[in-house]
Amino acid sequence: MTDRVLVTTALAYTNGPLHIGHVRSTYLPADVYTRFLKMRGVDAVHIGGTDNHGVPIALQAELEGKRPEDIVKKYHREIERDLEGLNIEFDEFSCTCKEFNPEHVKMTQWFFEKLYENGYIYEKEVEQLYCPNCERPLPDRYVEGVCPYCGAEGARGDHCEACGRYLEPVELEEPRCVVCGEKPEVRRTKHLFFKLSEFEDDLKEWLESKEDWPKNVRNYALNWVKEGLKDWDIVRDIDWGVPIPLEGYEDKVFYVWFDAPIGYVTFTKQYCEREGKDWRDYWFNDDTKIVHFIGKDIVVHHAIFWPAMLMGIGATLPDVIVAGEYLTLEGEKMSTSRGWVVWVKDFLEMFPADLLRYYLIAVSPLTRDADFSWDDFQARVNNELVADLGNFVHRTLTFAYRYFDGEIPEGNTDEEVEEAIEDAHRKATEALESFRFRDALNAVMELARFGNEYFQRHEPWKLIDEDEDRCADVIHSCARMVKAIAVMLAPFLPESAEAIWKGLGLEGKPEDWDEALEDVETRPIPRPKPVFPRVEDEDIERAKALLPEGEEEVSEERSEEKETISFEEFQKIDMRVGEVVEAERIEGSDKLLKLKVDIGDDTRTIVSGIYPTYKPDEIKGKKVIILTNIEPRKIFGVESQGMLLAVGDEGEPAILTVDESKREVKPGERVR
Ligand code: MSP
Ligand code: ZN
Repeated sequence: MTDRVLVTTALAYTNGPLHIGHVRSTYLPADVYTRFLKMRGVDAVHIGGTDNHGVPIALQAELEGKRPEDIVKKYHREIERDLEGLNIEFDEFSCTCKEFNPEHVKMTQWFFEKLYENGYIYEKEVEQLYCPNCERPLPDRYVEGVCPYCGAEGARGDHCEACGRYLEPVELEEPRCVVCGEKPEVRRTKHLFFKLSEFEDDLKEWLESKEDWPKNVRNYALNWVKEGLKDWDIVRDIDWGVPIPLEGYEDKVFYVWFDAPIGYVTFTKQYCEREGKDWRDYWFNDDTKIVHFIGKDIVVHHAIFWPAMLMGIGATLPDVIVAGEYLTLEGEKMSTSRGWVVWVKDFLEMFPADLLRYYLIAVSPLTRDADFSWDDFQARVNNELVADLGNFVHRTLTFAYRYFDGEIPEGNTDEEVEEAIEDAHRKATEALESFRFRDALNAVMELARFGNEYFQRHEPWKLIDEDEDRCADVIHSCARMVKAIAVMLAPFLPESAEAIWKGLGLEGKPEDWDEALEDVETRPIPRPKPVFPRVEDEDIERAKALLPEGEEEVSEERSEEKETISFEEFQKIDMRVGEVVEAERIEGSDKLLKLKVDIGDDTRTIVSGIYPTYKPDEIKGKKVIILTNIEPRKIFGVESQGMLLAVGDEGEPAILTVDESKREVKPGERVR
């Protein structure tokens, strides 16, 4: 493995800071992988940065009355700080912003010109929406309306959240300008298209040849290609983006997904210029392995659009694309607008980075969705990291410190220990080579568990009096395992690995992967300190308090059978038929509706998590069942004066209603 490897991570949008989802799917696996390669002596570099163009950032700036570059600057800094805090290391971390990185503008234009010369770009008239009031075109998210496929309201010009389809602005029903609310008109204008369709066969062949790729990427991309590729509009009618070096396109820019991946090349070039290397060795040389780390939502961009662009200029294609599946939070989709998210910054104010790094890898394989739950986080840290790994390291070092005069004793390593170390090392190596991060970390944890069992079984606290030489062998064997753990933990938990390394009295930090297999020398060790802190209940309470309130109510799970209650107790419950008279979405929430419900002698405001299954128009006029004497509760700032009864798990509610086939039922009638 002496090849050159270029590891890239998806460029984070500068429309907010980092949350733990970004970390889980993309940045952490890439960092672990690059650290592993470097420890094996591979010439590996990790290239990343931020993605600064695009309609969302332009729109955010406009709605907040700021300049896009100010938003970019703010979040670029925050993202960089978040990554540093997590010890995600880069050889180059840059940005695509036309204001701050003119190199990127040059590179994008150069790339475009190559594609143009090679005949892969053509001009075509397109229909697009135009706001007569704002006097300007409305690309992508500048328009909202009703999704033509699923009927959901609030679909955006590029994408419907409810059904997940990609959209064109002109497809929207009842479109309106998001800036002024005006109904747009359709106008014609010229755009540039990339001939993606011409690459269909080559892409198919290329993807088919990648048999060892993670399946979530290869199958997805192959299915996409098999459905037929349409040429790709690479122009947007806004001014926030890379200018197009062609006459007639002065008021337009490249689509953000055209310039963003080119950022990988720009940043490589910037890295090379600093290091006195030739960037063409990375992008025009098949000896280089390019590995892209991304999240699953951007597979199409990396496994289809991007390789086609590279084919179009004869550049090196990615060797492998690793796509991390999504992270949910406490069983629900994360949502930055609702605040249902854990920001990296908040996490780091409460806990050391390594605890997050551990949890995000241990919780689930990268190729499966994972859930972050604070209780599970606490349990895993305390029961695995502290109880297994931390405990083994600490008891070994403490024993040596106390009974062997502050030194790792000289001695022979037991054969079973040698074997356990070799086994763990082989498993971890194989797993990391094939991007199975969780399996690799498990191999290290297994070694720690074995170490604990070994320590326990040999009872060194008895041996020290009975047979000191044998005791020295046992503790020496344990110290060997501690060293192996420190080395193999280094890509995953760099700070803790270094602390353990230093705990053995060694200098610097673990830097050579195969040193896990080597003996440990006798040397003085510092007074041992526990490696990992326990996570206490109060810590978890504090962490949970940062999440928005009222969520548990919305997501109440189907529960087990409850204890029997008396008829009198049942009589206390006031449930009535109500008629929904008004319904609207609650701003900032993905699933809450605010309902006004007529319950006979009163009209109540009820907040209910039934959107998008029930659209406001659809629920209006329905007879529903309301629990009216439940304590009022504020949800998303709205007081809910009762509860709408419904069944169903998270995400698929079905409301309770009343049978009117025999007679009409009036609002206010009691349920008994
Ligand atoms: N700017 C694009 C990438 C351009 S690459 C040329 C982008 N940015 S992002 O900020 O939205 O996402 C950064 C990374 O985090 C992406 O790999 C994305 O897939 C990933 N994730 C974003 N939200 C996520 C979760 N909730 N869970 C897991 N990964 C998530 O996409
Ligand atoms: Zn407008």
